[in-house]
Amino acid sequence: MAKVRVEYLCRECGARFPKWSGQCADCGEWNCLEEAAAPTQKADTGSRFAGYAGESAITSASDITLQEEPRTTTRLSELDRVLGGGLVYGSVTLLGGDPGIGKSTLLLQCLANLSAANKTLYVTGEESLQQVILRARRLNLPEQDLRLLTETCVEKVIALAAQEKPQIMVIDSIQTIYTETLQSAPGSVSQVRESSARLVRFAKQTGTALFVVGHVTKEGALAGPRVLEHMVDTVLYFEGDPSSRYRVIRAVKNRFGAVNELGVFAMGEKGLQVVSNPSAIFLSRHPQPVSGSVIMVTREGTRSILVEAQALVAESHLGNPRRVTLGLEQNRLSMLLAVLHRHAGIAMFDQDVYLNVVGGMRISETAADLATIFATLSSFRDRPLDANLIVFGEVGLAGEVRPVSNGEERLQEAAKHGFETAIVPHANLPRKPIPGLKVTGVNRLAEALDLLD
Ligand code: TYD
Ligand code: MG
Repeated sequence: MAKVRVEYLCRECGARFPKWSGQCADCGEWNCLEEAAAPTQKADTGSRFAGYAGESAITSASDITLQEEPRTTTRLSELDRVLGGGLVYGSVTLLGGDPGIGKSTLLLQCLANLSAANKTLYVTGEESLQQVILRARRLNLPEQDLRLLTETCVEKVIALAAQEKPQIMVIDSIQTIYTETLQSAPGSVSQVRESSARLVRFAKQTGTALFVVGHVTKEGALAGPRVLEHMVDTVLYFEGDPSSRYRVIRAVKNRFGAVNELGVFAMGEKGLQVVSNPSAIFLSRHPQPVSGSVIMVTREGTRSILVEAQALVAESHLGNPRRVTLGLEQNRLSMLLAVLHRHAGIAMFDQDVYLNVVGGMRISETAADLATIFATLSSFRDRPLDANLIVFGEVGLAGEVRPVSNGEERLQEAAKHGFETAIVPHANLPRKPIPGLKVTGVNRLAEALDLLD
């Protein structure tokens, strides 16, 4: 019998090594190498090109005729939006998110909606059939055509699916699925990688639209190697503050649509409901103005959304004061505090700074810079800002305020929600005045701060 060669795979980045070591030489993570079976190599037959001829044929680009990908609506408009205008048959979508955020609920609703016009199959390795059906009945979903399977062996799932021929299939979750060809436990990198590869191949060959649920590690990345993200067509992340009812789905990769598109849902008695006009749900309404709170306008895909940033600045007794951010990047806060020190002479080296985006939103765009600075300063001085003020703009290391994309749309959105004043980068001043909104443009951070006094 041929000896099975083993290799070691990094759980974090998927890099392969012939030997085990304590640290991954690729990504630098510790204790992340796992044993896996190495792929077998073909025997060398002499000629450089021998043994390569397969059954595929090479096509010239001009011979290819284009056709629209066949799509179907999921009847959840916000899910359609992040998928790029509906679900594409034959596509593979990975849905990641914290436990309990609503992944199973969303996919069950989506599948039940689709089951009237499509053959569907819901494969669950986490819940019993009773649990799934109990939920479907409680949510009043049209479940009579829904087909269910509890199975965790990928070969059996694929064999049954090949008989059933579903058009849409859900795997909940990939971490419970294993292949018989590998010895390692379900959920390990090699299992996740190998089982997904088989499922993806099945979906592509049969034109099945496949949803795969993936768990998220405590750092917020999808558990299993990053290669999982490369294998699929679309990667969606489910985010949200567990204590709030709003949930956000973000497309971080999409071969069939725009990325960074956002879908907003509210979790309620009847499962997840779409929120088609989410602009102002991420604001907390204070009865009177409070210090440290600033409203900004962020762009998510094709939408402007009003979001509240809150800061708390408190005297620090630590050698290294704390810089804690939730929903914004921590390094960005440290950088902005340095800019504030250098260009406005306001030092916070003896202060702890906490920054939070209300409602569990995560903001990655630099348009939040000016709001970050305003919120921090407002808390530092314990001076509330005008409750009808909105701000946005990028702040550079030289103390300049740089314009951001879609300035006019952001201002329109703010005006629509009754905001009366805005402080924005000078280059983002609207060409025509916006009724009800007094907009002030600034070029330098110092000018912006003067407006606060
Ligand atoms: P679930 O879909 O099981 O999460 P995941 O699959 O991502 O782990 O979500 C379950 C959570 O949602 C659970 O905490 C209860 C809550 N929930 C509601 O509030 N209302 C509902 O109608 C349903 C079905 C769930
Ligand atoms: Mg679940």
